[in-house]
Amino acid sequence: MRDADAARADGLSTRAVHAGAPSPVPDAPVVQPVFQTTTFYTAAEPAAAVRYTRYGTNPNHEALGVKLAALEGGEAALVVASGNAAMMLALLTLVSAGDGVLAQRELYGGTLRLLLRELPRLGIETTLLPFDGDWAGGMTDRTRAVLTEVPINPTIRVPDLPAITAAAGARGIPVIVDATFATPINLRPLEHGATLVVHSATKYLGGHSDVTAGVIVGRADLVAEAREKLISFGPVLDPHAAWLLDRGVKTLAARMTVHNANGLAIARRLAAHTAIEHVDYPGLEMHADHERARTLLAGFGGMIGIVVRGGDAAAVRMLERLRLMRVAPSLGGVETLVSMPRYTSHAALPRAERHALGIADGYVRLSIGIEDADDLIRDLEAALDG
Ligand SMILES: Cc1ncc(COP(=O)(O)O)c(C=O)c1O
Repeated sequence: MRDADAARADGLSTRAVHAGAPSPVPDAPVVQPVFQTTTFYTAAEPAAAVRYTRYGTNPNHEALGVKLAALEGGEAALVVASGNAAMMLALLTLVSAGDGVLAQRELYGGTLRLLLRELPRLGIETTLLPFDGDWAGGMTDRTRAVLTEVPINPTIRVPDLPAITAAAGARGIPVIVDATFATPINLRPLEHGATLVVHSATKYLGGHSDVTAGVIVGRADLVAEAREKLISFGPVLDPHAAWLLDRGVKTLAARMTVHNANGLAIARRLAAHTAIEHVDYPGLEMHADHERARTLLAGFGGMIGIVVRGGDAAAVRMLERLRLMRVAPSLGGVETLVSMPRYTSHAALPRAERHALGIADGYVRLSIGIEDADDLIRDLEAALDG
């Protein structure tokens, strides 16, 4: 196997293809097979830790761990059954009863569920603040983890990650970053002082809308602790799903190049369209965080938020007229998917709270795929003009 040390000298595309891949010895397979097995033979008296798929030590898990750690520049990585499982295990690695979590209020709804519904039942208190609020002032003696999402779903705002990690670092508090929208191609949070990176690998890492998975990357001791939580709670990734994810990650860098280019081209075109009131895309000069995005991100990604003039009814009419883009929640796949956050990720919130998060009436989120940008633009313009 091409190990993490060798991979560190490689570029990101090379790491995506080769890190964790089988050693090129004669008759070995070029592609690691699926180890579709729950368990592995041992000696009657095992000399080392036994392998067991639920422990995340199936070879398909381990190969992916090497690849993802190499891509993020972390010591180790753990793959689990979903993004939400990864977030829960990351949080439980850092916090226990009596501790507090300081998080931004603009988070994926499923993360807010964990923070506000589940953690309090375990005696863990969450304090929320606006992503551009006073992080240092929000930290107390109880705070044992700081949590941010970069960029933010669905407004693509870009928190000041170096400032957040500096404030937390000054108090020795670890920082978890959900970098699902960025992927390691556009942002590697560990380089900016983060402690653990979490991804919903269901999105860009898998890239084909066919695998549900999650990832935790960071220091080896913390990832080992997260594995202990995996062993206890059991949200393991099935080996075949791990194999599919591995295949998806191999093309991550190539796909992100197209997502970044398509996102920018389409955001620019939408910004000039009279049926659109507003476009949220950090690659546009008018975006509130454009300057920060330029320094922090290697690419602006494929996620765009738009406000359709005429409110929700006009937005629904536009969605109904699309012929190439499909209406579905989720994101990060090769195909363009669009959705209205008020019916999906932010359905549980009252209108005023949605507005406070920047989700106006008529808000549509676009996950731009890798189709030809001209075809996507034609589809959007026909739907808007129709
Ligand atoms: C930013 C972000 N983080 C985490 C998740 C949760 O991922 P999963 O659906 O794989 O559990 C999502 C899902 O949409 C997301 O958008």
